[in-house]
Amino acid sequence: MCRRIFYGTTIPLLKTEGGENLNSHLSQLNKDLTQLCEGGNFGEIFDQNPYMAVVIVDKNNIVTFINKTYLKILQLPMDKVLRKPLTDITPATKTAKVLMTGKAITAYNWKVNGQHLIACSVPLFKNKEIVGCFAYSISLNIWDSKTLVEDLLSDITMLREEVHKSHTAQYKFDDIVGNDKRLLHSVSLAKQVARQTQTKVLITGETGTGKELFAHSIHNASARSHKPFVRVNCAAIPENLLEAELFGYEEGAFTGAKKGGRLGKFELANHGTIFLDEIGEIPLSLQSKLLVVLQEREIERLGGNRSVKLDVRVISATHRNLQSMAEKGLFRKDLYYRLNVVQVEVPALRHRKEDITLLVEYLLHKLKDRLKTPVVGISRGALEMLKKHVWPGNVRELENVLERAMSLAYMENAYLLDQRHFTFIFDKISATWSPGRKSLREATHEFEQRIITQVMEETGSNKAQAAELLGIDLSSLYRKLKKYGISMD
Ligand SMILES: Nc1ncnc2c1ncn2[C@@H]1O[C@H](COP(=O)(O)OP(=O)(O)OP(=O)(O)O)[C@@H](O)[C@H]1O
Ligand SMILES: [Mg+2]
Repeated sequence: MCRRIFYGTTIPLLKTEGGENLNSHLSQLNKDLTQLCEGGNFGEIFDQNPYMAVVIVDKNNIVTFINKTYLKILQLPMDKVLRKPLTDITPATKTAKVLMTGKAITAYNWKVNGQHLIACSVPLFKNKEIVGCFAYSISLNIWDSKTLVEDLLSDITMLREEVHKSHTAQYKFDDIVGNDKRLLHSVSLAKQVARQTQTKVLITGETGTGKELFAHSIHNASARSHKPFVRVNCAAIPENLLEAELFGYEEGAFTGAKKGGRLGKFELANHGTIFLDEIGEIPLSLQSKLLVVLQEREIERLGGNRSVKLDVRVISATHRNLQSMAEKGLFRKDLYYRLNVVQVEVPALRHRKEDITLLVEYLLHKLKDRLKTPVVGISRGALEMLKKHVWPGNVRELENVLERAMSLAYMENAYLLDQRHFTFIFDKISATWSPGRKSLREATHEFEQRIITQVMEETGSNKAQAAELLGIDLSSLYRKLKKYGISMD
């Protein structure tokens, strides 16, 4: 094994196996050390060297200098070693023999406190008279190539596993079904921006509209497609863990930190794409850190002091209105502008009801494979019924509704989905009025209250969206929420 060890300019190269090249340097080393011995400035050169354990004794084998690395290996404090005979501290030391013979002993193996070391002991001369001995040891634990290779391999395996677990984009633009003009416009914008591999993209749209589909497709259509696509669900990770998740950490950065530290998602995504999903949920405290990372294009792991250059495309997505959040001080404006270089808006399903036919066809096919049902199609009546629904949960809701209807049809052994398989969609809001029990006024109020509660639930309490779905203006919605005591959160 051959390693370059630099300290000052004294030893340009040491070969620690066989020791032959080492010897050729020793005479020079000896001269240099003798000078140093006279100058007495060992501390500066050897004290901080983390790889080399150094000790110097006088002609009586009394320790005159020892560096921190050696003290660490010995697990002794300085006052227990300095000015003490070295044989008392390490009886197997070769310094006594070197002092006696005046000859260097090089590249020998020995063990101190369970650590394998490779060592050299060199006599020090002044005016041809032996004045002491310089001994240094290199820890095999540090230099052993096997350990180094093992460490590297385990890092690589960890990296590979991390990357392959969830770091590939699954969808392509071909998977986005629909002919609606607004949808096609968004797809074409997304295709354009896919080519600009640095440009940040903000994907907006209600829940279940296909934002994730767009993010995957942009990555897959870009020149980064063979590099990692790393998704971070900012809403799913607890606030106190999100920073470590994004930026990684060094060993010992905090209590509970893994041995060896951990790569952050940004580092994992290097040269590829990071998809910050649900970016609207990222806490304000972390927003400023994210902003710095995006500006500087480098990250520093938590508890670390080394920065890593980043070449990552950032795609973020949210179902929230970030602009209005920024105006209310709930989201940093500067971060909003930085993320929103190109905005791709995915239209809600109720605004592209003509796509329902295509989507149903596509989803039936997709679900048929998964559910292994005999269902082959859907009746015209059922399709018309689906077109009348408002779909607050968008394509995801349509997919769930179809799945449930297919299970019902399966139980009946039916080949065709019919209206009766979809009545459950309306169950929740059907009125239960029977004459005599309630006045029309009471029943109407109850019905109104139930519908508003349901729509608020389905929109995640998004009042603007709820008002739109209910076909009333925002102020009427507020009035009714208050009237019926429905929670606004
Ligand atoms: N245009 C589309 N064509 C085909 N499938 C779609 C389309 N849009 C959405 N889907 C499907 O609908 C489901 C929801 O899509 P996705 O997860 O991308 O929505 P989202 O906008 O990210 O929702 P959320 O805001 O709740 O995270 C997925 O199964 C996806 O494959
Ligand atoms: Mg999503």
